[in-house]
This record gives sequence, structure tokens and C-alpha cells, in this order.
Amino acid sequence: QTDKRTAYRAKLLTFVGDPATTAGGACFEEDGLLIVEDGRVVAAGSYSALRERLTPDTTLVEWRGKLIAPGFIDTHVHYPQTEMIASPAAGLLPWLDTYTFPTERGFADPEHASNVAEFFLDQLLACGTTTALTYCTVHKSSADALFKASEARNLRMVAGKVLMDRNCPEFLRDTAQSGYDDSAELIDRWHKQGRQLYALTPRFAPTSTPAQLEACGALARLHPDVFIQSHVSENTDEVKWVAELFPGHRSYLDVYEHYGLLRRRAVYGHCIYLDDYDRARMAETGAVASHCPTSNLFLGSGLFDFDKAGQAKMPVTLGTDVGGGTSFSMLQTMNEAHKVARMTGHHLTAARMFWLATAGAAQALGLEDTVGTLRPGSEADFIVLDPEATPLLARRTGLAQSPEEWLFAFAMLGDDRAVQETYAAGKRVHRRA
Ligand code: GUN
Ligand code: ZN
Repeated sequence: QTDKRTAYRAKLLTFVGDPATTAGGACFEEDGLLIVEDGRVVAAGSYSALRERLTPDTTLVEWRGKLIAPGFIDTHVHYPQTEMIASPAAGLLPWLDTYTFPTERGFADPEHASNVAEFFLDQLLACGTTTALTYCTVHKSSADALFKASEARNLRMVAGKVLMDRNCPEFLRDTAQSGYDDSAELIDRWHKQGRQLYALTPRFAPTSTPAQLEACGALARLHPDVFIQSHVSENTDEVKWVAELFPGHRSYLDVYEHYGLLRRRAVYGHCIYLDDYDRARMAETGAVASHCPTSNLFLGSGLFDFDKAGQAKMPVTLGTDVGGGTSFSMLQTMNEAHKVARMTGHHLTAARMFWLATAGAAQALGLEDTVGTLRPGSEADFIVLDPEATPLLARRTGLAQSPEEWLFAFAMLGDDRAVQETYAAGKRVHRRA
């Protein structure tokens, strides 16, 4: 069964490179056209150049004045923490003990997991996020619940069952063997099943024994195109704890490297307290940093250093880290990322922030031919942003002197209200009320 060709006329934002290092990396088309057929992009460019491809059987959708951009990619989020967002604590470790572990216990119930997974996906799509790397809980069924919900909507999601076999409540523990077996089974069931992709998910070094990290590394070697996701160097107390638990390693990151968990498609949340050697190892191995500014500010974790990341050529992406993060919106995440960058004397342009949240993330994840750019042949995951979503946004965008100023207003003032519609594989999956 094939879908009819549809063309959307709007402003267009696409990318050919990192705007921070490539002149003309961001392409802004004032009067653009996006042509979609059978869930894929056929063409994206200026209306004048593409109008001749509006065959009589093409449906034309008029969105002049609005912006079409690739769907956002959130590279670090915890779907089971959706309902515990906005739970304050005096830092990461007490927050885990007080709120996170008790909340994750509820995901032993598959019905509860399905219910939260559906709500979580509703929230992502309302915010314009079409791909996310999400943690599940230690329960195998929590991953099944997320993948089932994602598959039913034909979304490109990356997810994995959490591995943790120590330093957490008894009721949330697996073992090195059961974690290996459950992950292997989930990879067989879900990795590349339709648009679903699997991520091996050791929560963070403190909650895994060396035996579990060893087993995880073995699975990673067996499946080189599976993702890996974990946390690293988020909080000073956590860094100290890792040094005690894993003596003899030169750094926290080195623990992961020792177990074969630094490579392409390995995504590490936070990366605040890395040193220059760590950053160089991330860059050399192709491992990816997920900067989570709303979470880092909310939990008081620290300030990510964009200058040092750039000098090391460490791949950087953006994550919400809900429930440590305070918003599912990648626009709000850009807002906070901009302020965190400012605190270390670094200027993040809007073009770069949108790139980090779309094409940059896709490239870092090895999905550059799949999502994030609107290049012909890629999957038609895109969003429609409304510059008149709020009176203030309308005023500010109305006075913008350049595409950069116009996009910057979205990044500072935008949230789910700015997202008029969201499309996944060419089908509308969200429409603003
Ligand atoms: N480190 C280990 N687990 C977590 C978590 O659930 N959230 C955050 N932000 N950091 C973590
Ligand atoms: Zn996290």
C-alpha cells in the first residue's frame, strides 16, 4: 500500500553541516516546499525550484509563514520518570533514593508501564520530539511496553531495559546473567523491528558490578549496531563514589572504556566532570555526549563546557533527562543550554541549537541517512512551528531582522505551544489543540 504524494509549503530549516564549524551549515528557505511520499522525503527546497514537481495528483498543504523543521531528537530521557517530574531533592543521589527508585518499582506492572508509555509518547510528540533515546526500568516488560506503544505509532525510538545489580533497592535488581539474557531477548525482539532500535542500558557505573559491565560489554561486541546509553560524570558526589567503587581507573569514563562501552552509538548523559583526556577518548571512539541542561540546573549538578567539548571534537547532543529534567520540550532545552553556555563564556547560536537537536544528533547517532535532515530519501519525521503561537512570540518573531533572530526567539520563548503539528514517517501524529 502506498501513500499519495503530499507537498507542504512553508519556511524550511535543513542542514548540511554543523553551523559552528561549517559556513552555510544551516539552510533556511523563506518560501520552501517539502514533498513527501510513502513516509519518506522526496524533495525539500525552495518553492520556486520545486513547484514543477507539483504533479496534478499531489496534495498541496499551505503553511506559508510557519516553519517546517526536522523532528527533534532527545538523546537522553527516562520514560518511567514522566510522572515524577518536578520532584525536588538536594542533588542527584538523594533524588534517586527518595523519588526515582520508588517510582520505578511501579513498572513491574505491565499495565502501568503501558499507560505511562502512551502518555510519555503523547508528551514527546506534542513537543515536536520524534526520536528519543529512552531508559526503561530494570523490568524487561517496561521495555516491551515502550516499544509496543512506539511501534503502534510508527515512531523511530531507541530504548532499553536498565541494567542494575547493586547499590539500589533489592526490588529493582537484576543479575549480571539475567540482565544479559533479558537484554539479548529484547534485542532479538525489537532491534530493527520496524523503526525500533535497542540500547544496552547500564544505569550508571555505581549500580552495576564489574561482572554486569563485563556482560554488557560482551553483548555490545556481539551487536555492534546496537546503542549503549548510560550516565557519566554528572555530579561530584557520584564521581567520588565511582572512584571508591572502581579503584585503579584513571577516571569515571575509563570504567566504561575498560568494559568495552565506549564506541560509536554509545551515548553518555551529562559529561560535566570529564577531563581533557576523557573528552579526547570520547572523540576518538565516536562516543556521544548528551548535554541535559534543565536537569543539570534543577539537580544542581554543574555546567557543561561547550568550549572544551568543541576543542576536543567530542560529539555533543541535547537531552531533556526527564524526570531530572524539567521539560519534555527541546525548545526549552535549547533555552537552558544557551544560558549554561553563556555561564562559561560560550555563545550558542540558534542555528547550532536547532542542529544539535536534529541533524547533529542524527549524525552523532549514526542515523544521518534516516532522520534529522529532510534530505531526499530520509524518513519524513518533521514538525511545523508556529511563529504566532503566543502573543509574545508573534511580536518578537515579527521584529526579527534575520533567520537567526527569528529562530532564536523560538529557542528562548518556545515550548509545546509553538508546535502546531508533528509528523512521523509522513503521517500526522500530533496536532495542537
Ligand atoms: N544517574 C543514575 N540514574 C540516574 C537517573 O535516573 N537520572 C539522572 N539524571 N542521573 C542518573
Ligand atoms: Zn538520566
